[in-house]
Amino acid sequence: MSKKIEIRDICFDYIGKNKAFGALENINLEVDEGEFICILGSSGCGKSTLLSILNGLNKPKSGEILIDGKKVVGSGADRAVVFQNYSLFPFLTVKENVMFGAKKSLKRKNFTKEERIKRVNGYIEAVGLLDAIDKYPFELSGGMQQRVAIARALALEADILLLDEPFSAIDPKLRLELQELVSQLSKIHKKTVVFVTHDIDEAILLADRVIVMEPKHIKQAINIDLPYPRIREELVGQAHYEEIHRKLISSFYENIEQNIYEEVKLWE
Ligand SMILES: Nc1ncnc2c1ncn2[C@@H]1O[C@H](COP(=O)(O)OP(=O)(O)OP(=O)(O)O)[C@@H](O)[C@H]1O
Ligand SMILES: [Mg+2]
Repeated sequence: MSKKIEIRDICFDYIGKNKAFGALENINLEVDEGEFICILGSSGCGKSTLLSILNGLNKPKSGEILIDGKKVVGSGADRAVVFQNYSLFPFLTVKENVMFGAKKSLKRKNFTKEERIKRVNGYIEAVGLLDAIDKYPFELSGGMQQRVAIARALALEADILLLDEPFSAIDPKLRLELQELVSQLSKIHKKTVVFVTHDIDEAILLADRVIVMEPKHIKQAINIDLPYPRIREELVGQAHYEEIHRKLISSFYENIEQNIYEEVKLWE
């Protein structure tokens, strides 16, 4: 399988008034084409920072990002992002929001206007929102708004999907539905996905591989070799699932315990 994303020796500092804060140190990671990885780690360890560098919003202090073997600088049509807070335009309807995202990318692909409308409608249908196509964001629930954000990201027709805790504000039942939706759609549309979460169950349900982060660093990569579709109720209790779950819990919490310990030491 070919490498879609290569993250090489990335270091990143946030520059404050008087001093710099090192948020990432020597991050190295490769993601295969079509692979779904989850980045799991406690609050403040640098997950969003890493995603913002992948997205081109932040420029690393050193190191480089390669996509399809070529160095990239800044954002690009090859990457689409979904954030936690939906980030929809409040003055545009569902259809217009999705169209806004899609206009440039679909035009670039030389689709006619009719084809573009058909594709946009197809993405809205894929996330189950055809009935709400002319509604405004304020008329939609949080879960529906996040579906629009997913449709908009898909409509960009980018090979790579970057998602930053997209479901953390969604209630648990709806969250399961959206997890299933993203899992299915990423496979149907053959996306390479980097999905940030601090939820171990979510990571096991979605990922081919989980990258556990500790502050500033990647701590461990754990393969999730469970067949798809993954139904949580069916998985719970299975020996292999429980083994992976245990592995992730110990990696994740060992990390948190160490952070808390270090913070306490700082205050001593
Ligand atoms: N704009 C900023 N200026 C200075 N420091 C920042 C800034 N944004 C983030 N940081 C710091 O960088 C570190 C990494 O932040 P980041 O947002 O990447 O964490 P995270 O893993 O995404 O956390 P969370 O799970 O809470 O979203 C944190 O210590 C944070 O305080
Ligand atoms: Mg974050």
